[in-house]
Amino acid sequence: MPTNPPVMQAVIQDGYGVPERVLRLAETAVPSIGAGDVLVRVRATSVNTPDWATVAGAPYIMRPGIGLRRPRRPVRGSDIAGVVQAVGQHVTGLAPGDEVFGSTGARAGAFAQYAAAPAAQLATKPAGLAFTDAAASVMSGLTALVAVRDVARVSAGTRVLINGASGGVGTMAVQIAKALGAEVTGVCGTGSTELVRSLGADHLIDYTTEDFTQSTQRFDVILDNVLNHPPKTAARVLAPGGTFIPNSLGYTGGLFAGLPRMARAVLMGLGSTTVRLVRPAVNRENLTALRRLLETGQVKVVIAQAYPLDKAAAAVTHMLGHHPGGKIAIEV
Ligand SMILES: NC(=O)c1ccc[n+]([C@@H]2O[C@H](COP(=O)([O-])OP(=O)(O)OC[C@H]3O[C@@H](n4cnc5c(N)ncnc54)[C@H](OP(=O)(O)O)[C@@H]3O)[C@@H](O)[C@H]2O)c1
Repeated sequence: MPTNPPVMQAVIQDGYGVPERVLRLAETAVPSIGAGDVLVRVRATSVNTPDWATVAGAPYIMRPGIGLRRPRRPVRGSDIAGVVQAVGQHVTGLAPGDEVFGSTGARAGAFAQYAAAPAAQLATKPAGLAFTDAAASVMSGLTALVAVRDVARVSAGTRVLINGASGGVGTMAVQIAKALGAEVTGVCGTGSTELVRSLGADHLIDYTTEDFTQSTQRFDVILDNVLNHPPKTAARVLAPGGTFIPNSLGYTGGLFAGLPRMARAVLMGLGSTTVRLVRPAVNRENLTALRRLLETGQVKVVIAQAYPLDKAAAAVTHMLGHHPGGKIAIEV
């Protein structure tokens, strides 16, 4: 049994604000693990919305929950891929040396050399996939999988419009919808059209020159990862009985501009349109389904850029630009 090192390098968050000001690489204690946990030697992680939102500390309303002046959990990141270092006494099916991918969940802590994760939120890493791709697939891939497969119930011929098709969630959703036989329309910016086409989208809408809400086409499903239009306006292009999936904290008009739009759509409804949110469950079953899609090559992870751990602040800043062109990864 390998001995756990007492200290490690991790990216510590000292306050809220600009990533370069509040994130720094430092030595800290290796996390301890509970009976159902696994200690993972992290090889890669990636940046997701909860990471940059917690770095920014916005909206203020969440601060009583996460820490008033600085986050109670000082290390960001939840996606992980790496090698099992140690397992808790109740963990079965995983052993030191196994290559895994998954999530640390709400405890975060992935921007570090070692992270503790519940065993139930880890699965064997997809064979032949780089740690970087495996880590970057987790939150975006599971969100896309649950949105497309379970919430939208996409099948052969379903007409799906994906707004924000070039982002972390969108690049995965386009490919998963195609794998399920859908006819996919991807909405993205000019610089991303070739990327989204290469992922298999049947039709493209460049939002800089065309407004998808004015389309004469009708769709069975809209997965809206941007919410730059009021849901009522977007839903006009849905076929009768269609499904609208609002999935963005939004940033057109400011950070978290999407929250009131999501709330209004869910609480007040959109006429005959079904409105459903995505709540992706991180569990072994969903990770295994994602692994299959990755191993068969039906889904590829688009890494826009990979940063080393000591450049984690730059990685978060990149995400805050809101045009990542795929996933932003951090290699450890
Ligand atoms: N339900 C969940 O558990 C869950 C999990 C993860 C994420 N999310 C949500 O999913 C959303 C997307 O996340 P992500 O990681 O995919 O984000 P991301 O990687 O930053 O992607 C942003 C997308 O928005 C597009 N975009 C940027 N500015 C735009 C504008 N002015 N008009 C139209 N489109 C614009 C970008 O297109 P171009 O780059 O082509 O311009 C890109 O496709 C987030 O808001 C997040 O809240 C939800």
